[in-house]
Amino acid sequence: MAYDLLKGKRGIIFGALDENSIAWKTAERVHEEGGTFVLTNAPIAMRMGQIDQLAKKTGSEIIPADATSVEDLENLVAKSVEILGGKIDFVLHSIGMSINVRKGKHYTNQNYEWTQKGTDVSAMSFHKVMQTLYKADAMNEWGSIVALTYMAAQRVFPDYNDMADNKAYLESIARSFGYFFGKDKKVRVNTISQSPTPTTAGQGVKGFDGFIAYADKMSPLGNATALDCANYTITLFSDLTKRVTLQNLYNDGGFSNMGVSDQVMEAFVKE
Ligand SMILES: NC(=O)c1ccc[n+]([C@@H]2O[C@H](COP(=O)([O-])OP(=O)(O)OC[C@H]3O[C@@H](n4cnc5c(N)ncnc54)[C@H](O)[C@@H]3O)[C@@H](O)[C@H]2O)c1
Repeated sequence: MAYDLLKGKRGIIFGALDENSIAWKTAERVHEEGGTFVLTNAPIAMRMGQIDQLAKKTGSEIIPADATSVEDLENLVAKSVEILGGKIDFVLHSIGMSINVRKGKHYTNQNYEWTQKGTDVSAMSFHKVMQTLYKADAMNEWGSIVALTYMAAQRVFPDYNDMADNKAYLESIARSFGYFFGKDKKVRVNTISQSPTPTTAGQGVKGFDGFIAYADKMSPLGNATALDCANYTITLFSDLTKRVTLQNLYNDGGFSNMGVSDQVMEAFVKE
């Protein structure tokens, strides 16, 4: 169902790799709600992914940008304003990557060059995106910026590895930059803390299949899907959430407030 929630709004969507990506689903939903946007991803992801299909389907242009490169981001922002015909109303940062996770390096045995690269891509890129938008004065008043995160920023999930620290950093940047973006430009900044979701990034985490089943059994409403996340995101881009800012918002079927569930207990109780 569409509600015209984003009619006339312009945006930039980072991180659509394939149809499983949370950013892909969000782009489809934004399009259905009447928003227009530029799609962007790292140049390498363009070759691996299917972003062209999404662009065609949503009538969008693609501008490649490595989110760790301020130069690329400056070009992206300037071109997006030009293509879309005005300042930006919404931005989705849907980017994450850990080389330690990908290469199976344990948290207690990190390769720090990889750690730094992961922090740059997964967390500092969010600061770089916002600083670029802020300096260019490219956001409209009452605009909305959202980044995606995971609850390993607050609680221990051993196999999430250095991504846990990156997410804690990302959430802190949302609050710190959100203050200045709110005060100076009337723009809100939030993070959505999403359930484990079967995407390329998600499936890189060791033991992901078992973990996603566990999270589902712990959550009274079950895991939130990528589409659920897209739907939540469009409400944050809409005018219905104008004074929601500096928040980390859980879209997780209730997981984050659970201690244990009947379904999980069943695995331990002896008859
Ligand atoms: N999948 C999950 O279980 C889950 C749960 C909570 C939060 N998240 C977060 O959701 C976001 C989106 O991930 P996803 O699950 O849709 O996976 P995904 O693999 O589809 O998306 C990750 C994206 O990051 C992009 N990216 C990597 N390096 C980049 C760079 N240097 N510059 C620009 N883009 C770059 C990739 O190309 C890819 O499109 C991430 O922040 C992820 O941490 C995912």
